[in-house]
Amino acid sequence: MSDARVVTHGRSGFAEPTGAAVLETRGLARSFTQGGETIHVLRGVDLSVAPGEIVALLGPSGSGKSTLLQAVGLLEGGFEGSIRIAGEEAAQLDAHGRTRVRRDQLGFVYQFHHLLPDFNALENVVLPQLIRDVSREDSEGRAADLLRTLGLGHRLTHRPAQLSGGEQQRVAVARALANRPALVLADEPTGNLDEATADVVLAEFLRLVREQGSATLIATHNERLAAKMDRVVRLHEGHLQ
Ligand SMILES: Nc1ncnc2c1ncn2[C@@H]1O[C@H](COP(=O)(O)OP(=O)(O)OP(=O)(O)O)[C@@H](O)[C@H]1O
Ligand SMILES: [Mg+2]
Repeated sequence: MSDARVVTHGRSGFAEPTGAAVLETRGLARSFTQGGETIHVLRGVDLSVAPGEIVALLGPSGSGKSTLLQAVGLLEGGFEGSIRIAGEEAAQLDAHGRTRVRRDQLGFVYQFHHLLPDFNALENVVLPQLIRDVSREDSEGRAADLLRTLGLGHRLTHRPAQLSGGEQQRVAVARALANRPALVLADEPTGNLDEATADVVLAEFLRLVREQGSATLIATHNERLAAKMDRVVRLHEGHLQ
């Protein structure tokens, strides 16, 4: 059990020009209180990601990478500071507003795919488009194109349990990109794959986000993979270096 508590550790970065960043955090802070001890995980993170930029988020286990992605993805509250997504201040939105920003601006790839088990590969990529009122025909066309591009043209009607780990992660990539989001967030998207498969899936992922121009923030432990991205930022003691 945890008792989340907000603590401010703001730095003086609030006055910087915002430009046209797709993502901009200022003074983002998050702490957890557990067993009487408070852990300050994020102590005022200032991060900007430009349109189309691919940024690797590095840091040792426990440094707060997932905490940062969950805050930026509007999946968890309990933080302090500002989060601007596509120009909109999103940190203080209510649940309805957060859902709207997630639906219209964000795509996620998690370490474990989180696909819907009762739906096949194609349907998993179609669904987020239907939620945005794309027609079924267009959704299916886009989903099939993406999955074919990712080498899954022969697996469209397989359910997640009938796919390998690498194939499942490719479906998760297709799902995250289906609506061409302005911002893609990925938390160790290839972390549970063997090295060779991870390299292939990541290369395909990076090629697609570059093609469609989505800004992308990818948490990873892997320096070698991080070197393939446009910029590397490191979390250390609650700050970005
Ligand atoms: N709900 C929670 N309650 C209490 N502490 C938490 C909670 N979530 C995260 N923490 C703590 O916050 C710190 C950062 O966790 P986080 O999952 O963000 O790290 P990470 O950088 O993603 O690590 P990894 O590389 O292992 O995935 C850890 O020390 C963790 O124990
Ligand atoms: Mg993590």
